[in-house]
Amino acid sequence: MTEKQAHIVEVGPRDGLQYEQPVPLQAKIRLIEQLIEAGVRYIEAGSFVSPKRVPQMADTAEVLNQLKRHDQVTYCTLTPNLKGLELAQAHQVKEIAVFASASEDFSQRNLNCSIAESIAQFTEVIHQAKAYGMQVRGYVSCVLGCPHEGRIEPQQVIDVAKQLYDQGCYQISLGDTIGVGTANQARQLVQSLSSVIPVTDLALHFHDTYGQALSNICACLDLGVRTFDSSVAGLGGCPFAEGASGNLATEDLVYCLEGQGLSTGLNLHQLIQAGDAICQVLQKRNQSKVAQALRHKINI
Ligand code: HMG
Ligand code: MG
Repeated sequence: MTEKQAHIVEVGPRDGLQYEQPVPLQAKIRLIEQLIEAGVRYIEAGSFVSPKRVPQMADTAEVLNQLKRHDQVTYCTLTPNLKGLELAQAHQVKEIAVFASASEDFSQRNLNCSIAESIAQFTEVIHQAKAYGMQVRGYVSCVLGCPHEGRIEPQQVIDVAKQLYDQGCYQISLGDTIGVGTANQARQLVQSLSSVIPVTDLALHFHDTYGQALSNICACLDLGVRTFDSSVAGLGGCPFAEGASGNLATEDLVYCLEGQGLSTGLNLHQLIQAGDAICQVLQKRNQSKVAQALRHKINI
């Protein structure tokens, strides 16, 4: 990875759609295809989780069955347990994500177990995934605040992130699940974590509830973070975190990073088209400010 390249993890088909009304299978597939046409090379295609708890992701196997896969694209799925891992393996998924929390309360709500129990479960998942030759990405949620526990100290995040990293997650994505963090906090967190995990192995996954996501990312750029999670049209949210709203919009992230001389490899106009198309299916407004500003100029 060179200094001037940024890597974008597109979470729209997973995080973006997990808290919306369920969309038809073909609309999901079209969204993924349009994102790839726009240059996306890493995409969260869905989740193998309990279909009763997240019905929006119940068709992940079918999405994977029907997608035309491209060699240069990584299709990742969330897999909280061995059951999810087996489903991922059966559907030729090469990369999975496990997702822990820095907050006990959110761990219980999201995974129905404590942080320690979730780490024990992920140890098995990571071990077996490696045996299958898969890559494993690790999430830590609520890194800058929890809807019930309030402030989360960097040490709480370090404890969880280090365990996932030591077990073999090649990258740790730091989730500000409810989008409450501000720039200094984000920067301090990354600085603290960098004493145990190389900054280049960290990613930032910021929801934009309070409109701080871009400013928080910019505050961490000179520390060397180069991987960012975002969701087209600013879709997103977690059903188990009160007050969680959309992720940072991919269109806004691309505009910001490119403006600072970082190359993303993504085509902004095609991204806007992809975001508008899924928003039309959802019958909601595209939340990206850049999409709103540019749409009339590019005649979409
Ligand atoms: P559990 O609630 O402890 O119960 O599951 P269980 O293990 O007894 O399973 C309940 C039912 O789900 C059973 O079916 C299982 O077979 C089935 P039943 O017998 O009732 O018919 N099941 C599964 N089905 C498919 N795939 C699976 C699977 N596992 C169990 N893998 C579990 C624990 C974690 C599975 C459950 O609580 C769950 O699915 N939670 C939802 C987690 C989730 O998807 N959260 C949203 C994503 S995380 C997020 O958004 C944050 C993030 O974006 C970062 C950030 O923003 O901070 C990543
Ligand atoms: Mg999220």
